[in-house]
Amino acid sequence: MPCFFDDDGGETAVTERVDRAENLAAEAGETNLKALAAALQDVLAIVSHDMRTPLAVIHTTTSMLLNPKYQLSEAQKREQHERIKRNSELLNRMISDVVDMAKLRAGKLSIDPQPIIIDELLREAVTAHESAAREKGLGLTYEPATESMRAQADRARLLQLFQNLIGNSVKFCKAGDSIRVGSHIRGNQAFIEIADTGPGIAADDLPHIFDPNFSARQKHRKTGIGLGLYISKGIVDAHGGQILCDSQPDAGTRFSIALPLAT
Ligand SMILES: Nc1ncnc2c1ncn2[C@@H]1O[C@H](COP(=O)(O)OP(=O)(O)O)[C@@H](O)[C@H]1O
Ligand SMILES: [Mg+2]
Repeated sequence: MPCFFDDDGGETAVTERVDRAENLAAEAGETNLKALAAALQDVLAIVSHDMRTPLAVIHTTTSMLLNPKYQLSEAQKREQHERIKRNSELLNRMISDVVDMAKLRAGKLSIDPQPIIIDELLREAVTAHESAAREKGLGLTYEPATESMRAQADRARLLQLFQNLIGNSVKFCKAGDSIRVGSHIRGNQAFIEIADTGPGIAADDLPHIFDPNFSARQKHRKTGIGLGLYISKGIVDAHGGQILCDSQPDAGTRFSIALPLAT
């Protein structure tokens, strides 16, 4: 009977090995199907619940603009158009997050590495949030590293990562809070910190914040579908880096990221 050697040197009949392989494939298939079903549940929950809200706002606002019974002034019309714009941007972000979630679940979040300077991207992300922070009465400061942080990384994905984290701080902090973004180089790694004095995260929740199921099913959410941190960790992992979070309720939250620098 044809046979081949196991790793431990023992002999196993081919038919037995085929049977074992078939059993493993069936188990893996079942696991994949379960993962697929769970992913579908999440997408359905997001589409049926979270996406309906901005869509409803767009629908009612457009209906109002089209209805001659409302005699809106130019200023009022402009305000309503801006509302439509904001809500369509929100829908667009939700769709991008769902697409990224699907890519991550399939293990296919590909990155396109180019020569970049990390501190320039951090500054861009901070600048993008300056007016929102000012409007909410938050302090937002950036302390760059003393040397340029050159890396081979995906520009758009890193910008998305920094914007997700700074955006969360802006979203969860209240007037009088402050957000500090800092970076430094140690060895051949870039260390980035985004720290705020906001509401913090409960100790029980902390181990689950990078999990899509935990975030997507949170009850007391503000705008957002709870995928930001899951995607952020996916981006850091795809770059061979690390992301950690320390947080104390009522004291604040700090995200620390380590990314490899160009050699
Ligand atoms: N800076 C922060 N301060 C307090 N809580 C935060 C902060 N960042 C994230 N969180 C918590 O982690 C959860 C998941 O964040 P995220 O995945 O970005 O989803 P979303 O922003 O859509 O709620 C948030 O809903 C919030 O409870
Ligand atoms: Mg978020």
